[in-house]
Amino acid sequence: MANTKSIHGEWSSRFAYILAATGSAVGLGNIWKFPYITGENGGGAFVLVYLGCVVAIGIPIMMAETLMGRRGRQSPINTLGTLATEAGANKNWHYLGWMGVIAGILILSYYSVIAGWAIAYVFKAIFGGFSSDSVVIKQVFDDLIANPKQLVFWHTVFMVATMSVVMRGVKGGLEKAVQFLMPALLALLVLLVGYAMTTGDAYFQGLSFLFSPDFSEIDSDAVLTAMGHAFFTLGLGMGAIMVYGSYLPSNVSITRTSMYIAGADTIVALLAGIAIFPLVFANGLEPGSGPGLIFQTLPIAFGNMTGGWLFGVLFFVLLVFAALTSSISLVEPVVAWMVENKGFSRVKASVISGFVIWLLGVCVALSFNIWSEFKIFDKTIFNFLDDLTAKVMLPIGGFCIAVFAGWIMQQKHVREELDLPDAQFEIWRFLACYVAPGSVFIVFLHVLGVF
Ligand code: TRP
Repeated sequence: MANTKSIHGEWSSRFAYILAATGSAVGLGNIWKFPYITGENGGGAFVLVYLGCVVAIGIPIMMAETLMGRRGRQSPINTLGTLATEAGANKNWHYLGWMGVIAGILILSYYSVIAGWAIAYVFKAIFGGFSSDSVVIKQVFDDLIANPKQLVFWHTVFMVATMSVVMRGVKGGLEKAVQFLMPALLALLVLLVGYAMTTGDAYFQGLSFLFSPDFSEIDSDAVLTAMGHAFFTLGLGMGAIMVYGSYLPSNVSITRTSMYIAGADTIVALLAGIAIFPLVFANGLEPGSGPGLIFQTLPIAFGNMTGGWLFGVLFFVLLVFAALTSSISLVEPVVAWMVENKGFSRVKASVISGFVIWLLGVCVALSFNIWSEFKIFDKTIFNFLDDLTAKVMLPIGGFCIAVFAGWIMQQKHVREELDLPDAQFEIWRFLACYVAPGSVFIVFLHVLGVF
């Protein structure tokens, strides 16, 4: 089985895979979510826990998920079924694939709404909506999210864009888009960091907020948030990287590519943090002001700097593309499954799944305004879906993936896919069998108040 190919095709090279998987990892999670949850959870200590989770849990699980995909060569649901049979294990493992499909649908429903904000900001940037006055900038943001028609409109634009790429197959447009996107995004972030440095004292205040840990700031919920975010930002725990792994040529090193991807993802997140927090302090804003954080800070930088008009437009365009290359991986598992099991064309599968996600997304968009009083477990629809996926479904998914690769699969198959020297293989095994699932388990017990 190791040398078979997926019916959906294969990446054209190792580099193409790295680009696509980095495209899946780098997205709103890095630039929009990481800064605001860091702000809400007190800064440095939270960042440290998050980095620890990326290394000790994220990378080993990314390797596990990728190798399972490459060995199974199908959508996650069928891959899990096939691998379970191969290992002589219970067929019910394929329900793990189903949980992933559902998580992907739920995540994309709100991801698309936020990506819609970014599209709206492209136009605000073009038409000169940015100024150096933080009060004006905040008002611009508050007006946007209070407007249900606008939110639904931009969400619709984003969903149509996502599904039109998915329809063509992940390889076609995606590989090319990411190739110029990543370097450009990186360059703009560096520019923003450069701007942040001009804020004087605030720059150092920002750095110290991000990098000097104060552990009294965090409780078990903050640890869960950091761990959940490690899954979210790397795109783990729901089959996205499994399905990308299923298109991976057999001779590519899973270990090395996983490290590159996690490394690139982390750098982008940290740069975003370094660019944003100085602006937060320089303008007397609250680090914990929530999901609007980047929309209330970065426009001030663009409003102030020379050439800010051009950079502002470029930045939000790139952010939309970064979101697009992530959103594709969120639907690919369900689309691949529909093609395999229902015999649908990619187009039909994309239209059906896209419509369901769009509909859910409309509810999310309304949860920021006219339905803001409607609560599930005391949370708005947006907060509920975000917490349910990032803090519950992805960690459980990741836990099961680590257990599957570490304990259920025959280790000679795992060895074959990872193709590592013995000592390194043992390190991976230790992390995948004990550290990763153990940490998820302990954090869950702690949050549930068991100890
Ligand atoms: N990693 C992406 C981001 O940070 C989002 C994403 C893409 C994702 N694919 C995923 C999250 C799979 C969880 C699971 O923006």
